[in-house]
Amino acid sequence: HNQTLLAPSILSADFTRLREAVEIAEHAGADWLHCDVMDGRFVPNITFGPFIVKAVAACTDMTIDTHLMISDPDRYIPDFIEAGSHQVTVHQEACPHLHRSVQLIKSMGAKAGVSINPGTPVSTLESIMGDLDLVLLMSVNPGFGGQKFIPASVGKIRQLHEMRNALNPDMVIAVDGGVTTENAEELVQAGADALIAGTAFFKADDPAEAARKIKQASR
Ligand code: DX5
Ligand code: ZN
Repeated sequence: HNQTLLAPSILSADFTRLREAVEIAEHAGADWLHCDVMDGRFVPNITFGPFIVKAVAACTDMTIDTHLMISDPDRYIPDFIEAGSHQVTVHQEACPHLHRSVQLIKSMGAKAGVSINPGTPVSTLESIMGDLDLVLLMSVNPGFGGQKFIPASVGKIRQLHEMRNALNPDMVIAVDGGVTTENAEELVQAGADALIAGTAFFKADDPAEAARKIKQASR
């Protein structure tokens, strides 16, 4: 876990110029491209499905990091992997059979992640952590880009970092929601390896400069 990984979220991109947005991220040195999938049920907003993920995946060599904010994700995991997702993250709160969901992702050759909402304790991941490639810690309530970072998330990153070191040292800790060039360093020092940035990247006057600042954040 040397350099901070940056994952711009296309949710904040200009969808009339999606290819350009992907290229801006790639040229800025982004590591992953974060695709926010919402179903209007698990979260109060609807975004896009495998069709858009496939279009985006076809424009880039970046790791396609798909964040499923949907109920009953097992129904759609295969579609999102076939669309080109290299990593698929499901929500702990949406998966009564979390181990099964994680194994389904892995059985199709993708990396498996689990996300927890701000109101969900880190301890709920203890039994599954040994099986995970990444945890996506939500630092806003999922549903929309451009929300304010919830300060209590910093303590959760620290907790997760300790748990990771004890149970699964190779697992990546990603933080999603309200990440800025200003708070990036604090999050990395608390234990984040990867930062998701929608607004802070795509709405920046100079996205490449924002990317540099975020990737420079170090422990
Ligand atoms: C929130 C999404 C986030 C969001 C991040 O529901 O999961 O990935 O797009 O956007 P910003 O960086 O603007 O908070
Ligand atoms: Zn997300």
